[in-house]
Amino acid sequence: MSTLRGSLAALVLLLGSLATPVPAAGAARPWLDARLSPDERAVLAVKAMTEKEKLTLVFGYFGSVMAGQDPPPSAARMGSAGYVPGIARLGIPPQWITDAGLGVGTQRESSDAYRERTALPSGLATAATWDPALAQSGGAMIGGEAHASGFNVMLGPGVDLVREPRGGRDFEYAGEDPLLAGTIAAAEIRGIQSRHVIAVLKHFALNDQETGRMVFSADIAEAAARQSDLLAFEFAIEQGRPGAMMCSYNRINGAYACQSHWLLADVLDGDWGFPGYVMSDWGGVHSTVESALAGLDQESAYVFDSEPYYGPPLAAALAKERVPLRSLDEMARRILRSMFAVGLVDHPIEADAQIDFGADRRVAAADEEQGIVLLKNAGAILPLARTVRRLLVVGGHADRGVISGGGSSTVFPVGGNAVPGVGPQGFPGPVVYLPSAPLAAVMGQAPQARIRYLSGDDIAQAVKAARGADRVVVFATQWTAESVDARLELDGDQNKLITALAAANPHTVVVLETGGPVLMPWLGKVAGVLEAWYPGSGGGEAIARVLFGTVDPSGHLPVSFPASREELPHPVLPGSGVAADRSFAIHYDEGAAVGYKWYQRKGLTPQFAFGYGLSYTRFGYSGLTTRAAPDGRLRVSFTVSNLGRRGGAAVAQVYAGSESGGWEAPRRLAGWRKVDLAAGASTRVSLEVDPRLLAVFDAAAQRWQRAAGTYRLWLGGSSAELPVSVSLHLPAWQHAAHWPIRDTNTPTRLAHR
Ligand code: BGC
Repeated sequence: MSTLRGSLAALVLLLGSLATPVPAAGAARPWLDARLSPDERAVLAVKAMTEKEKLTLVFGYFGSVMAGQDPPPSAARMGSAGYVPGIARLGIPPQWITDAGLGVGTQRESSDAYRERTALPSGLATAATWDPALAQSGGAMIGGEAHASGFNVMLGPGVDLVREPRGGRDFEYAGEDPLLAGTIAAAEIRGIQSRHVIAVLKHFALNDQETGRMVFSADIAEAAARQSDLLAFEFAIEQGRPGAMMCSYNRINGAYACQSHWLLADVLDGDWGFPGYVMSDWGGVHSTVESALAGLDQESAYVFDSEPYYGPPLAAALAKERVPLRSLDEMARRILRSMFAVGLVDHPIEADAQIDFGADRRVAAADEEQGIVLLKNAGAILPLARTVRRLLVVGGHADRGVISGGGSSTVFPVGGNAVPGVGPQGFPGPVVYLPSAPLAAVMGQAPQARIRYLSGDDIAQAVKAARGADRVVVFATQWTAESVDARLELDGDQNKLITALAAANPHTVVVLETGGPVLMPWLGKVAGVLEAWYPGSGGGEAIARVLFGTVDPSGHLPVSFPASREELPHPVLPGSGVAADRSFAIHYDEGAAVGYKWYQRKGLTPQFAFGYGLSYTRFGYSGLTTRAAPDGRLRVSFTVSNLGRRGGAAVAQVYAGSESGGWEAPRRLAGWRKVDLAAGASTRVSLEVDPRLLAVFDAAAQRWQRAAGTYRLWLGGSSAELPVSVSLHLPAWQHAAHWPIRDTNTPTRLAHR
């Protein structure tokens, strides 16, 4: 059976890779004229479509064989996330849909036909770079691989805020702050779409934990949502202009996201003027009429829903006029508009496209180099000297590769899983190690050293070896995955191993490969700690370059690392112990005080603060000046200096606060700039602060509002270390919830009513 499926998959892959020629425009098919705007082209194409063709565009298939279900159409790319047929008569290509935000994935159902592709480091690693240019080149890399693999829609990036540091998918996201997360996700979107692949921003919205993800209701006040999770999406949409949004599984204040009129029609469409289309998460649809009227444009992979809701049921609802025909036109128009805008029609999938895996691995490694965060460096144990004599490397399968996260975002690496057979073999497994061995890279950095590797399984043996070593580097892992939440802990006995090694040798450095924050009971005993996240293809080499100082560590935390579970807004994970099919509410009473904002509001000290990260050099901050612009923005300037004797990159962070209170927290990240500085060099930096970051959302008046009063700006290298500040008086300012993000004259859905 599996061989049969394998050859079938190979045949489908081959057929799928045949070139689709650019269809010719002409008087008969004016929508193919690339000189017209995407809006004009979409309107013209919809006019030419039959109802059946429109229904085709809004109904998605799974891209794999699912037990007990009809197989997908033969033109689907086997082992992929989804497929929507095209309309050949009109020159509209199919939508070939792949996961996800870290690279081209393969669905487990076709385990005999894995696509081996390049994996970016985790989303948190990319956010830790604080470098949108790197995020954009990563997006372009995976978008390029998607296109070359026969896909024109990519299901990423994800920008749900890390509200819950145990969230099983936190690794896919971009951290706890709306400005940082939205900016990084936007850059990735621009990268993906530069390769003529639609980026799908997900999971809209508040799908902030895995426990009960299909059923829980995120209960939150509107103002709090607008100032936190929704703001991250809003920034990502404005700056990235994704072709599509994926509505999430969960409910929000009781209503399923994929049929929430408030979320899809009022906020996304009405207030933000989002011109693209909304597709459902796989199994996220619960109705036909309610969803269509709320603004769900496409039912994805219908086999995941309890029954098909679009397709024939939508046709029936149209016939009975329970859904107006103009709604179907609108759904088709939005999908087509994004296909035209992103270039799916003008730049069809290439035949037999080659992928330069060497170059792509370097893109991933560059991202990781900048995302690694140096958390502790007692006695300047790092960078390691190349002249080190006896070096002991322990654990984490560092002799074979680096770990990655589980679930639909899993990328099966070029060269295969470096450590097969670990973890669950069904979804969300297996645990995949990317073949980029830190050990080999460390050997390359210190060719003269006597380097020994031990797995760490035998703690006594590792301790004995540590006693005789000059330096010990221990690799520690935490596997997190979609559909299950984590525990803020390293897997297995690794805490014990690290504690024992640190007791045996004070020159012990820990390299963490984790999905997100972990507790570190051994922190006081080790000399150094590097957070390397999920390091991606080429991550082993990146880690070695940072360990030996070829690259200065310049990553800063995009999430707070708690000191204990007790200090979290929800010490016990919401939904723990609730039967899997029972729905429950998560009361997000912390509102917009997510992550560092929570700690600061409560006067708590986390283990490591948001924005924190050490370097091998030191930076100084000075000369902070600011000027208010009439449009509500602030223009801010300051000087960053490298005070040390090595080159390095600073992440200069500006935070804002309202002295009269009324905000969710004392301070919010208002802007930042990452600057590379040679030893002794200084530079002047200017940036603008978005007015929403100085305002609160007034839900009753449905607008952003800034009270006249005294405000303060702080400058420094972490949310907890802000040596410079200025205060300023600002006049009152307000702005309607409708924010001018539109680059289209197309009326919103609301205008149709
Ligand atoms: C996940 C999405 C993913 C989709 C397709 C869902 O279970 O939540 O993030 O894109 O599956 O694999």
